[in-house]
Amino acid sequence: MCTQSSSSSLDSSVPVPVDAELQQQRQRDSLLALEDENGEPIYATVIEPFRIKTVEPLYTYTRKQRKDFLRDADYNLFKLSSENVTLDFLTDSGTGAMSANQWGAMMIGDESYAGSPSFVRFEQAVKHLFPFKHVLPTHQGRAAEKVLFSALGGKGRVVPNNTHFDTTRAHVEASGAEALDLIVTFESTSQKHPFKGNMDVDALRSLLEGPRGKDVPCVMLTVTNNSAGGQPVSLENMKLVSELAHAHGKPLIMDACRFAENAFFIQRREPGQRDRSIEDIVRDMASLCDGMTMSAKKDGLANIGGWLAINDDKLAASCREQLILTEGYTTYGGLAGRDLDAIAVGLQEVVQEPYLEYRIRTIDYFGKALIARGIPCVEPLGGHAIYLDASRMLPSMPRKQLPGHSVACALYVEGGIRACEIGTLMFGGAAKNELVRMAIPRRMYTQSHVDYAIEVCERVAALARRGSLPGYKIVEQPPSLRHFSAKLRPFTL
Ligand SMILES: Cc1ncc(COP(=O)(O)O)c(C=O)c1O
Repeated sequence: MCTQSSSSSLDSSVPVPVDAELQQQRQRDSLLALEDENGEPIYATVIEPFRIKTVEPLYTYTRKQRKDFLRDADYNLFKLSSENVTLDFLTDSGTGAMSANQWGAMMIGDESYAGSPSFVRFEQAVKHLFPFKHVLPTHQGRAAEKVLFSALGGKGRVVPNNTHFDTTRAHVEASGAEALDLIVTFESTSQKHPFKGNMDVDALRSLLEGPRGKDVPCVMLTVTNNSAGGQPVSLENMKLVSELAHAHGKPLIMDACRFAENAFFIQRREPGQRDRSIEDIVRDMASLCDGMTMSAKKDGLANIGGWLAINDDKLAASCREQLILTEGYTTYGGLAGRDLDAIAVGLQEVVQEPYLEYRIRTIDYFGKALIARGIPCVEPLGGHAIYLDASRMLPSMPRKQLPGHSVACALYVEGGIRACEIGTLMFGGAAKNELVRMAIPRRMYTQSHVDYAIEVCERVAALARRGSLPGYKIVEQPPSLRHFSAKLRPFTL
């Protein structure tokens, strides 16, 4: 195992288990090797930039068995045993495959309660991309949200975001504040725009200049915009939001769960960005903000972890108090030292272009195949998932019969695919669309898995067209985040 070269921009006195510079140079060379002298790709196929060393079995079941499993799970896909799922597209959160370098790094994890060198490596890797003054580790993204809104939330306050993710909304609301989504609106889910995750800057201006402006403790931007179809936010939009927030004395906090995917879209879609490195774009994104919440289970390429990073000393002191109360001491924040090391290496790997190219091309390949078969998806295709538009698949099913959930259940019954409804089941009456998210875990499935999933979707779409999918009703639900544990029943056709 070699230590990091002294030419690296990370502090070389701190050992890291991979030669990050060398690995990045090799990745850059592999991209060039696939281009001709005019910079055009020589081959159409983008191969997975990794090979597989450890495998896990996948099981398949009969349709009858899957129907029984679903009934026993109260028709709630979250309650299925993962052993009864063939392709698990429920989430891309914490489900990806770690690299050999990450597993190696875990072995040098230092489990000291305080002052662990694992924390130093973690903090350095975070600050290398996001140079915020204070970095507070947390066990996952929602813990960072809880800590932040214990300080910034409260009754009478209102938090604008392009679109709150469900846990973000829940923490804002649990603090007594109001969570306001100010996303740019489009006529339909199929309307094309390179940055459909953008915040509606005019709506934000009206809020900040209006009577409720004084109640805004911070402005948030979620990149990429998960609940709105994994759509990216442009650097230009981030700059406008940042200027506006700062003109009103409000800190801008980035929910950065999928920062690398967002930066890749900026590089590929935003004018003037094509020749810039992903790392530079990420640092630009960070420089527009005053802090961030992060789930390392996404673009940290780790199975667990997260952090809250902020510049403000007073806010950081208050958040640290809360962190110690709920997560643990400030140098581990609910994580093992080995988790911190896995994240430190994951952050070096996630900004490598061949990885991001493969990642985004996988979604593109999957989505384009569905669109070619007439299956309605949110377009343009986003970063980490395919979002089926269930309202267009089941146009005559009333929203209260949960068309998104109906399609999600059918994907399981017909092909053992577990997906996630993002619609009325998840958000109740506040749902804007009836979507079914098929989130692709990072570095986990191959092209043949995707080809199989395309066939299953085609079958489900055909059943939907024939009117053969039942609606669902909720028969029991908790007061918040009901989709995780509600019990449902199908209406008989
Ligand atoms: C945009 C966004 N924010 C916050 C979170 C919460 O992160 P975690 O699941 O690590 O608590 C998620 C999780 O999916 C997310 O997608």
